[in-house]
Amino acid sequence: MDEIRIAGGKPLSGTVSVQGSKNAALPMMAASLLHRGVSVLKGCPKIADVFCMESILKELGAVTWWEGHDLYMDCTHGDGKSIPCVFTGKMRSSVILLGALLGRCGSGCLGYPGGCVIGQRPIDLHLYALRKLGAEIAEEPFFISASCSGLTGAEITFPHKSVGATEQGILGAVLAKGETCLENCAREPEIQWLCRYLRGMGADIRGDGGDCIYIKGVKELRGGEMEVPPDRIVAGTYLCACAATRGKIVLENYPDGELDAFLKVYGKMGGQYKAKSGKLIADGSGVGYPIPFLETEVYPGFPTDLQSPLLAVLATIPGKSCIRETIFEARFKAAAEINRMGAGITVEGNDAWIQGGSSLHGSTVYAEELRGGAALVIAALAARGETVVRGYSYICRGYEHICEDLTALGGVIMKDTGTNFNEKKQSTNSIAQ
Ligand code: EPZ
Repeated sequence: MDEIRIAGGKPLSGTVSVQGSKNAALPMMAASLLHRGVSVLKGCPKIADVFCMESILKELGAVTWWEGHDLYMDCTHGDGKSIPCVFTGKMRSSVILLGALLGRCGSGCLGYPGGCVIGQRPIDLHLYALRKLGAEIAEEPFFISASCSGLTGAEITFPHKSVGATEQGILGAVLAKGETCLENCAREPEIQWLCRYLRGMGADIRGDGGDCIYIKGVKELRGGEMEVPPDRIVAGTYLCACAATRGKIVLENYPDGELDAFLKVYGKMGGQYKAKSGKLIADGSGVGYPIPFLETEVYPGFPTDLQSPLLAVLATIPGKSCIRETIFEARFKAAAEINRMGAGITVEGNDAWIQGGSSLHGSTVYAEELRGGAALVIAALAARGETVVRGYSYICRGYEHICEDLTALGGVIMKDTGTNFNEKKQSTNSIAQ
């Protein structure tokens, strides 16, 4: 069965290292297609979405291999032009391959992207950017086909911020003829990491991290090589697990400076933390203050990807909290499931009202998407008794070893295969009923 069992009610404690960032690695993998040779991403997370992007690169003719956590991609013969929907339908970020294909060979045809069911997730801004760069794009019923006789630099102003569309514009512009100015860009760290990677390949990009990114097209790019940065959302997820269980943990390989808005909220709830030489020491034992109102925002605001994990924490805090989701239109799917564990969460439109305080109890709950699934794990760690979280495969899309990590922090987690992650410790305490 696609499930894990968690015996909750114990404060987490211990040290874990944060995996490489999913949302940084995926666009870097797409960017690697822009060089007809070998590129390498060191410390790349071994997660379902990365494996999916890897299979897409191989479908296009690239050769890939792993040396530990280092992913090598030889795109010398990555001259395929089409990606079937069996691949693209598995994840959202497949769509940015269109910009990479147009930049590499002037044409591309791919199935519509899939991804988490957290909203409509249109791609109009992606196609707008590529059309501005000179691509002819046909939106067929089951696939998108695009072609150009070489992309040309342009002034592109996004009507609102989009991480993926900003990445799309960057990937299309780096080999285009002439200069491109992208305005109203997303400022998430993953955009900056992509630009650093591309600059290492010889791209001429400046302004990333701000609203305007300036790109001068170059003739060709050399092989990329970069250490994938730590995943800020995984780090935030573990800090939520620490807060929900009132534990004390140390995160090694911490994404310094990328979680400031989240840490502000962590402090407001009563959490304490200290950054020290690349680590973050967190103490959730004093967590107990509700958050009367918080809204998710584009970076550097509170990240939408930590909205569901925070929901689980607030369900354990007495008093009334409210979170407004401003980025996606259907991102409270975890609320109903956490309510099955005894929480008092009411969703009204884009607002979730959390009447916290009643202690959570074990139940059987269902993950429907990545971060909502992580929220269920957090709630289960805080709940008395055993919880079965079904839909574990959604969680594996973004978390490389959430079970092993949380077990290393003292969580009691069992996978359906009976693999007990704390075998050595398990002889004494059985799964609490
Ligand atoms: C990226 O998705 C991340 N995914 C998401 O993380 C993250 O939640 C999101 O950015 C916001 O930070 C990856 O990086 C792979 P957007 P993306 O384009 O690029 C609308 C996770 O859990 N929009 O910034 O798809 C869109 O519907 C995932 O790791 C358009 O209207 O997000 C949304 O309302 C989930 N037209 C808003 O913009 C478009 O063409 C922001 O979306 C594109 C987006």
